[in-house]
Amino acid sequence: MTKAKRMMQENIKLIDLIIELVDARIPLSSRNPEIDELGKGKSRIVLLNKSDLADPVGNKQWTAYFQEKGIHVLEVNSKSGMGLKAIHGLVQTACAEKIARDKKRGIVNRPIRAMVVGIPNVGKSTFINSFCGRACAKTGNKPGVTKGKQWIKLNNKLELLDTPGILWPKFEDPEVGMRLAFIGSINDEIIIVEEMVCDLLRCIRTLYPKSIIERYQVEWAENEVDTLTAIAKARGCLAKGETVNLKKAAELVLDDYRSGKLGRMTMELPETNIASVEDET
Ligand code: G4P
Repeated sequence: MTKAKRMMQENIKLIDLIIELVDARIPLSSRNPEIDELGKGKSRIVLLNKSDLADPVGNKQWTAYFQEKGIHVLEVNSKSGMGLKAIHGLVQTACAEKIARDKKRGIVNRPIRAMVVGIPNVGKSTFINSFCGRACAKTGNKPGVTKGKQWIKLNNKLELLDTPGILWPKFEDPEVGMRLAFIGSINDEIIIVEEMVCDLLRCIRTLYPKSIIERYQVEWAENEVDTLTAIAKARGCLAKGETVNLKKAAELVLDDYRSGKLGRMTMELPETNIASVEDET
C-alpha cells in the first residue's frame, strides 16, 4: 500500500465528513472510485470545483447526476470563492444523521470534523485557503486524539484537517487518461504535447466546434494535425525557414484551453459524451 493511501486511511478515522473535490470539466474522470471504499460509513459531499471553466449546462447536468445518486453536491470556484458559503449548510444536511445520533447521546455542539480529498491539481490547496480564509484559527494538536494533526476551526460547527488527502488518478482507461492530461492532472513532462493537443482538438471538435474557429479564425481541417498546422500559421508559430512550429502551437492551444480562453467546456457528460454541448445552449 502506498504511503499516501495509508495516511488517508489513518486520517479518515479522525473525521466525520469527506469533502471530495472533482474537476467540473471531467467530474467522473477526476474521481478515484476507491474513495467509496476508503470513506465507507462517513458522510460525503462532492464539490464540482473549477465550475467557472466548465460549461454551465454541463454543471447543471452533473449536479443533477450526483443528486440522483443521493450524493450532496455543489458547484464551486475555489479561486474566486463562488459557492463556498453554501458549503456550511450542505455540511449540516450531509451530517444530519450523525448530529441527531450525537444529540440522542447527549452530545451537543460537537463540531463536524472534515477532510478534503482529491486527485492532484483539482484545487485542494486553493480550496482550503479560500474556504478557511485568513481569519480561521488553527487549533493545533488535540492531545491524545489527533496527535500531529492540525485542525482549522471554521466556526463552532466545523473543523477541517489542514492537509488534504491526495487521491491518485485512475487512468487504466485511455480515454480517462487523456482527459486527465487535458486538465493537467498528469505530469505534462511525460506527455508529448502535440499528440495530446490533437486529442484535445478531436474532443473539442465534437463538443464545441465553434470555439476553435472563433478564437483562431481557422476552419476545421480533415485531421487534427492539419488543424493544428492552420492554427500555427494563423498565430505565427514558426520555426526556422518558415516551417511551422507545431509544439509551440500545441502549447498555445493547451494554455488557452486550461485558462478558459476557448470558452467554458465540459469534456464529459453523464451517460454520454457524444452530443455537442453547443447544441443545447
Ligand atoms: P491541488 O492542491 O489539488 O493540487 O491544486 P491547487 O490548489 O494547487 O490548484 C491547482 C491549480 O488550479 C492552480 O492554478 C489554482 O489556482 C487553480 N484552481 C483551483 N481552483 C480553481 C477554480 O475553482 N477555478 C479556476 N479557474 N482555477 C482554480 P495554477 O495555475 O497552478 O496556479 P495559479 O495560476 O493560480 O498561480
